[in-house]
Amino acid sequence: MIIHSASFIKSSPSIRECPKPDKPEFGFIGRSNVGKSSLINMLTGWSRLAKTSTRPGKTRTINHFLVNDSWYLVDLPGYGFAKVSATQREEWNKASENYILKRENLICLFVLIDSRHKPQPSDLKFMEFLGINEIPFARIFTKTDKISAVMLQKSINLYDNAMLESWESMPVTFISSVITKNGRDEILGYIEELVTNSQL
Ligand code: GTP
Ligand code: MG
Repeated sequence: MIIHSASFIKSSPSIRECPKPDKPEFGFIGRSNVGKSSLINMLTGWSRLAKTSTRPGKTRTINHFLVNDSWYLVDLPGYGFAKVSATQREEWNKASENYILKRENLICLFVLIDSRHKPQPSDLKFMEFLGINEIPFARIFTKTDKISAVMLQKSINLYDNAMLESWESMPVTFISSVITKNGRDEILGYIEELVTNSQL
């Protein structure tokens, strides 16, 4: 898919403030620092669209980006090890949870997983939550430029094995690197297919 335009629309503390749900929408979620904001920039080709940081906990609100005037990419706050107070973290979690469960135009949630780490309980628990609530999602293994192809496959296999204890089949899976742009065509192709099939 060719990206003609991408622009920041708004930053919302909760689902109430989000833009009108009249366009197909794709959310990006995962542990803090996994590369959600960077991936949004890589996909759109606009390197400073979403704010990134080497320190976890950068994105703290629900951020809408309008692409090609027809669909939204949404940058969500990370879960996991952000250095913030428990109360603050509770608030973000609540905002993200509400968004995930209630956002009617959310077509697919991309769950980003750091390809360098072995299966993380927080990621496994989060995907369980999506499964129980029947939220459509796909996995993206990020930062693949930092490991070899062999290690990447090993990482994915470990996740599959951990998930197959409670899942019958694996979700759609992509790999990504913002350095090599690996995965860009595949992820955009998938979004294009879903946008085309959407009733919105
Ligand atoms: P929060 O907003 O804090 O939850 O983080 P985030 O998931 O949005 O992560 P962000 O995009 O800010 O990236 C975190 C760090 O990882 C930054 O230093 C990025 O440059 C780096 N990074 C992200 N993706 C990649 C990648 O594919 N390869 C490499 N080498 N670094 C990456
Ligand atoms: Mg971010």
